[in-house]
Amino acid sequence: MRLKIAILAGDGIGPEVTNEAVNILKAVAEFGGHDFTFVPLLVGGVAIDATGSPLPTATLDACLESDAVLMGAVGDNKFNALPPDKRPEAGLLQIRQALGGFANLRPSIAYPALSANSPLRPEVTEGADILFVRELLGGLYFGSPRWWNKETGESINTMRYTKSEVARVARVAFELAAKRKKKVTSVDKANVLEVSQLWRATVTEVAKDYPGVTLEHQLVDSMAMHLMNIPRNFDVVLTENLFGDILSDEAAVITGSLGMLPSATIGGQVNLYEPVHGSAPDIAGTGKANPLGAILTAAMVLRHSASLEQDAAAIESAVSKVLAAGARTADIARGSVPQNAPAQYLVSTQEMGKLVHQALAESIDRRQSMHAV
Ligand code: IPM
Ligand code: MN
Repeated sequence: MRLKIAILAGDGIGPEVTNEAVNILKAVAEFGGHDFTFVPLLVGGVAIDATGSPLPTATLDACLESDAVLMGAVGDNKFNALPPDKRPEAGLLQIRQALGGFANLRPSIAYPALSANSPLRPEVTEGADILFVRELLGGLYFGSPRWWNKETGESINTMRYTKSEVARVARVAFELAAKRKKKVTSVDKANVLEVSQLWRATVTEVAKDYPGVTLEHQLVDSMAMHLMNIPRNFDVVLTENLFGDILSDEAAVITGSLGMLPSATIGGQVNLYEPVHGSAPDIAGTGKANPLGAILTAAMVLRHSASLEQDAAAIESAVSKVLAAGARTADIARGSVPQNAPAQYLVSTQEMGKLVHQALAESIDRRQSMHAV
């Protein structure tokens, strides 16, 4: 398998966590005899410093010629005074739009070893394994008109969706649910908004093509509550852009740290992969950053851009194994140690990467020797 991956490490802790993710991808390539090439490119603040733009044309062109784009993080306090369209974050929104991915996948999983890191009780989070499918190119983020008239003190944003925009993201949700626990929860505000009524009617129609998958509808307000009350009731959660932005941050509470969460944006010309966390400039270069979000993002690259499901799953179980053995970066070292669990020990970004690499190598060795028998 050949794969050309654009690496947009970006700012702050972006380069250090991306480095660990790339090491894991290199290991998978070596073990499996794959040909992965990595193309480092500038984005965000480092791109502004070098070229004046947060998304230089050379970066975008090279991304469009790649099989996948792996981002680290963008953003630095020194750009805080700039208007939104000149800041490093603008590079992120521009690249999302240019690559065209409309389905943003955000898994939210309760790792048994991290059960003490969530403020929710372990018996509430136990077994939770949710995949958010957030529509990423429509709704209030992109609808027009949009303006703020400072003279009249009036402003407007537009929540707009077409039936085809809803149907295409709904299909992604049903396809994914068919391979999981076969349930889609579609989130809307159909008791108030016409856009949500279109959303609900369209999702209901798409569901007819997936008789093996159960569909339920939830209003966004009560969904916010159910997510915290009984997270294990959900499988795939389908949302429009803003509802998904809000609910996926809420669901990070189930895992216990933003540093653990990966994401993938699919459906466009080239898929875009990014850990959910930001650039954390305060801890950049200190070795404190958690590389697991980036490493789990690398697993999503293999799953969604290379159909290497077995390797993706092997990375994910290597992460669980390392956590179960007690290794913790600073962000996940806070929880008290559950009874009968091994003692926790603090590791750096690089050490965590090495531990996952080791666990992965062991599981691939086992797989290969099983095949050899
Ligand atoms: C996210 C972020 C972005 C979003 C911001 C930074 C534009 O909050 O990825 O969830 O709202 O999509
Ligand atoms: Mn967000």
